[in-house]
Amino acid sequence: MKYDTNQLEINKVQKSKIEEVNFDNLVFGEIFTDHMFECDYANGEWQNPKIKPYGPIQLAPSAKVFHYGQAVFEGMKAYKDEDDQIWLFRPDENFKRINKSSARLAIPEFPEEFFFNGLEELLKLEKDWIKKGFGNSLYIRPFVIATEECVSANPATKYKFMIICSPAQAYYSGEVRVQFSEKYSRAADGGVGAAKAAGNYAAQFYPTNLAKEAGFQQIIWTDANTHEFLEEAGTMNIFFRVGDKLITAPTSDRILDGVTRKSVIDLAKDLNIEVEIRRVKVSEIVEAARKGELKEIFGSGTATVINPISGFGYKGEKFELPKLEDSYGKSFKDRLMKIQYNQAEDKHGWRH
Ligand code: COI
Repeated sequence: MKYDTNQLEINKVQKSKIEEVNFDNLVFGEIFTDHMFECDYANGEWQNPKIKPYGPIQLAPSAKVFHYGQAVFEGMKAYKDEDDQIWLFRPDENFKRINKSSARLAIPEFPEEFFFNGLEELLKLEKDWIKKGFGNSLYIRPFVIATEECVSANPATKYKFMIICSPAQAYYSGEVRVQFSEKYSRAADGGVGAAKAAGNYAAQFYPTNLAKEAGFQQIIWTDANTHEFLEEAGTMNIFFRVGDKLITAPTSDRILDGVTRKSVIDLAKDLNIEVEIRRVKVSEIVEAARKGELKEIFGSGTATVINPISGFGYKGEKFELPKLEDSYGKSFKDRLMKIQYNQAEDKHGWRH
């Protein structure tokens, strides 16, 4: 079915709140722009896409999202170049993934025409919220929630698709040390790990709190069956550099198919860096660290871009990673950002 983008109704704020925002001191995800995109699903179709002032929405206490967590989301960023042009990075990947996540949670797919038209119109309105300069961006959060008023445990018949935007700088501040999980897991075979299901993130909070108490900022999740293989960090996919080789786990129905992850793999190929996409044993990484062969661990994700990991802990032992002059992570981050901010050739056609 073709959706008519002329249906988009735009209701602007009377006065922008941008003057009240200190863009030099942004905490990730705390401030939202003036407008939001909203589209409801009812009677078997998506209808009435709107852009309206950012603000609270009204939902019944019986809305299914509150009871069964039928909700999925995406994370994207918009960047501004020196000529004030606004760029998105591989937005088609996020669009495909939100619908893949939706399908896994029995949520109806969202139409491509509404997604791109709504997003582009919203970004035109919010262009002043996107600041120039490396590290500044607008974090874009599309999400879908089940709004039907009904507590029977079945897929809802009503949904709300929304896009909200938040000016962003760094996701993590300071050094990130990770704990390799020995007990808890993030996802199981046949589960929802590959979907950006809201509940995947909630389920990480408790074990992550325990890791924080032990002095780490994040967990690297291990496979649910054996806890012998390293999978992903929950807000990031994860790469290990052993010697000059890069190793990362393959995507599966447990591991998110990260847009930054696949871009790093392509950039590594461009740089003739050997990448092994295979299961990564905890024991091989611990052994490589002991032998001094583990050079780097870094995470990749939209929110964090590339985040170096300073050290890790496993079974009560702590390992520190060397500070490298020739860090792969740093080189990928520079290259990615130059593409994102329109300062380098985009040979893969990632900019939109
Ligand atoms: C993103 O990188 O966009 C993510 O999904 C991480 C998020 C939980 C902050």
